[in-house]
Amino acid sequence: MNAELTLQLNQLVDGLADEGYAVVDNFLSSEEVNQILQLEEFKNGHRQFKKAGIGKSQDKQINEAIRGDYIQWVKPEEAEPPLQVYLSKLTELISFVNQQLYLSLKDFEVHQTIYPIGSFYKRHLDQFKKDDKRKLSVICYLNENWKEEEGGQLRIYLPNGSKDIFPLAGRLVCFRSDLLEHEVLPATRERLSLTGWLLDSLRV
Ligand code: OGA
Ligand code: MN
Repeated sequence: MNAELTLQLNQLVDGLADEGYAVVDNFLSSEEVNQILQLEEFKNGHRQFKKAGIGKSQDKQINEAIRGDYIQWVKPEEAEPPLQVYLSKLTELISFVNQQLYLSLKDFEVHQTIYPIGSFYKRHLDQFKKDDKRKLSVICYLNENWKEEEGGQLRIYLPNGSKDIFPLAGRLVCFRSDLLEHEVLPATRERLSLTGWLLDSLRV
């Protein structure tokens, strides 16, 4: 593993252990982010993606009031090289975190995500009530030159207050899926990311 990634993963493990979340900048380089943004799917914008749902009940209106993002699941076997770069870093992350925090993460699931202008995702937890295999949430942002006044921050709710994290290109955020409530605030600009979960059993 290269020295920079080792440093970043140490930082991530410390954050998770001490505070239940971690922010790692430049997890992807701007070149790596650019390669991902060149992919057909992202270039075509959210019209090619599917409207994201909540749970199994697909009541459109309720859904719309809760989340407005569009997603496309990544099939690891078919993923194009720029996404493979990200997935292989996630694989390294899993084995590092397993060693350092004595976890037994076994797999990941990742979707490409687009929040159209003005869309949001209300305060929630990532773990489903009837399915607890999601242990850690990992999100990598793909927005070059994001400015704070454009909004779109991830707001996480900690015991002693909330904290805002802006979706800067290459930045990775990781947190406990069962514990950390969070929301995505609306932005004045399309907001792109790779959203994923580290699982303690194989994805179906
Ligand atoms: C999610 C989510 C946060 C973000 O997709 O469940 O909370 O910053 N995403 O995109
Ligand atoms: Mn979430």
